[in-house]
Amino acid sequence: MKHITRVSELSDPLIEELMRRADQLEQQNVETARGKIMASIFYEPSTRTRLSFESAMHRLGGCVITTDNAGAFSSAAKGETIEDTVRVVASYADCIVLRHHERGAAARAAAVSPVPILNAGDGDGEHPSQALLDLYTIQRERGSVEGARVVFVGDLKYGRTVHSLVQLLAQVPGVSIDLVSPAELALPVELVARAEAAGVPVSLHEAWGTVLPGADVLYMTRVQKERFADLGMYTRHANAYTVTSEALKQLKETAVIMHPLPRVHEVPPEVDADERAAYFRQVHYGLLVRMALLEYVLR
Ligand code: NCD
Repeated sequence: MKHITRVSELSDPLIEELMRRADQLEQQNVETARGKIMASIFYEPSTRTRLSFESAMHRLGGCVITTDNAGAFSSAAKGETIEDTVRVVASYADCIVLRHHERGAAARAAAVSPVPILNAGDGDGEHPSQALLDLYTIQRERGSVEGARVVFVGDLKYGRTVHSLVQLLAQVPGVSIDLVSPAELALPVELVARAEAAGVPVSLHEAWGTVLPGADVLYMTRVQKERFADLGMYTRHANAYTVTSEALKQLKETAVIMHPLPRVHEVPPEVDADERAAYFRQVHYGLLVRMALLEYVLR
């Protein structure tokens, strides 16, 4: 069963195959999902992830059934467990794209599901399809991921896209990682340890002044307000880092500025006109990667 609940389930050859396929799907019209149904079940807000998976499925000639705001509008509101919901939806669909507020929810769903589960974000856990599209973005923008110095900035504690991407990057030769965050929002230590064990140089910073000039990729993130039990702590860090014109000046001409979106304060709209701002191209690459992923799990 081809579940994709965390990036450790993706082998290097599979990642390469998916990225090659994403390249091809930009050029071709195919109907490889004709006759198949994808269900999307979202217990948390989403714009890009849900709509891009749905668009990807339509573009492959398949059909979509969906419940957004599943916490309120599905039987979860009546107390149904995720396991029961998934068992039921699996009778209606050939794969299930699931976003949930609890870490580990996708793995629980996969444990009982007879159809592939695609984790579209499980609380502060992982977001594997986003990490794949992020990796693909770096490849498309730089020509290669190898040797890149990637600087992650913002909420690295709760940012699930970071949790997944750090692990994916750790598999690529020559990559180095800089982690810029307030100490309270640092990347979980086990993820730092895992990257280091894979031989990746990792350095931690609270200020980004010294790392900006060396960045090949600047990966900005939103402070994940919805995950804070203490809103005072959120307020303390909400505006910790902003890509100002000063910061832009420090970045290399070839740097790639990424963001999984939605952005709040960390990347002001003035940055959009800068050629290095890749976050809207990243959205386009995401559609291609999700088409490739759907083809893979459905075949
Ligand atoms: C991210 C998420 O949901 O984790 N958004 C996305 O899927 N592109 C990042 C975020 O919400 O900040």
